[in-house]
Amino acid sequence: MLINGFGMFILAFVLLLQITGINISTAQVFRENTDEKYSYNLRGYRFLILLGEDFDYHESMVIKKYWEDWGAKVDIAGTGKELKGHLWKKTDKGWDKSEEKTIKTDLLTSQVDLSKYNLIFFPGGNSPKNLLEKDSSLLMRLIQEAEKKGLILSAICHGPLALASAGVLKGHRVTGHYEIMKNIQEGGGEYVTGVCVVDGNVITGNWPYFESMAVKTAEKLLYPQGGGPSENSPFEQNPVLKVIKERRSIRRFQDKEVSQDTINILLKSATWAPSPNNDQPWRFVVLKDKKIKEMIVNAIMEKLSEYYKSEEMPLDRMKQYISGIFSAPVHIFALCDDSNIEEEEWKDIQMLWNMQAVSAGCQNILLAARGMGLGSLWIGLSLVAEDEIKSLLQIPAEIKLASVIAIGYPADVPLPPLRKPLSEVISLEKWGKR
Ligand SMILES: Cc1cc2nc3c(=O)[nH]c(=O)nc-3n(C[C@H](O)[C@H](O)[C@H](O)COP(=O)(O)O)c2cc1C
Repeated sequence: MLINGFGMFILAFVLLLQITGINISTAQVFRENTDEKYSYNLRGYRFLILLGEDFDYHESMVIKKYWEDWGAKVDIAGTGKELKGHLWKKTDKGWDKSEEKTIKTDLLTSQVDLSKYNLIFFPGGNSPKNLLEKDSSLLMRLIQEAEKKGLILSAICHGPLALASAGVLKGHRVTGHYEIMKNIQEGGGEYVTGVCVVDGNVITGNWPYFESMAVKTAEKLLYPQGGGPSENSPFEQNPVLKVIKERRSIRRFQDKEVSQDTINILLKSATWAPSPNNDQPWRFVVLKDKKIKEMIVNAIMEKLSEYYKSEEMPLDRMKQYISGIFSAPVHIFALCDDSNIEEEEWKDIQMLWNMQAVSAGCQNILLAARGMGLGSLWIGLSLVAEDEIKSLLQIPAEIKLASVIAIGYPADVPLPPLRKPLSEVISLEKWGKR
């Protein structure tokens, strides 16, 4: 499928991003990199990874490597002496798990002596299912014994399935792949969405947040009362940084009104943004009317349907997605007024400044929303129907549409899409100099 930049933009949003929130370059292997450079002394600790066939290679090996780098001894117990795992990659054609990796295990699950270990860990993929199929009573006995001994019970992605089957999740807050939500709930756990959730001795996480899983398990052992380095990170301690990091693009909203006083605070936040010469070129239209929103959805669909068809993208799903993000109780239309521009010579650069100022105002709205417990979404897609939107909202021709922001109480907060590491985006002193 050959798609242009705009096509990639839409495809990424709708087909991939809604599921994973992730959009990085071709054949990229996904893993978290927080740039925090955590380091621990795990010398003297011994961890056990329990594996079945068709395990997720990165979930197992990346986390193992973190633990080993910090000094822990890590053994792999498997259902066989050799096991096949798979690697997830994103390519131009979508997700690819065809690359296999075979590893040698250190011991068989039947040989495990739990008295040697501080922690057991279940990676995902089909490993937990295959472990259970091979010998569920052995697995349950091991997990239940580990719980009795007070070992840390950790699992990622589909891994918590094994813990759920052994009945050790009762009363615990647990995360994992949404496909096993029901298993977790049936096993007595409370399913929550999270990068890594620590509740007592149960630590569960999600793909591809391998670093968080390694960090949280290490800290549970070294700082059992809490207060480890990850909790002291500036992005946890500083309220501004915390809001910046925890703001997410929300695409599902509760059917709950947002008061006009609250909306005014968001708009006031926008007006505290910087602007060229303090010209404040931002203007806003606040829209709550559902009928007008429906017309906007239809206008966007009309603009994009030919394109969607040509790309064989399902129109009903596209409509559902666009209607979904326009079902938020409030939409703020951020507009740019260029009437401050007087000199023709500076026109282009001033127009750019104005748009940048409006964008800074928009970002303030998103952050203020997060700070006030609201969710938001910057809907760039709406620009395809700028003329129709302007006409529906009676916006004068000379005023430009900068963006549309959905606001409401979140029904669902997605996991944070990965960020490129600083090493990929910064240069020191000169371009390209790291
Ligand atoms: C200029 C701009 C346009 C965007 N347009 C859309 C959009 O049309 N639809 C959508 O679902 N998300 C849109 N987003 C949100 C991004 O997809 C999102 O910010 C990104 O995936 C990172 O996720 P996060 O915001 O949760 O950190 C837009 C973001 C920006 C800054």
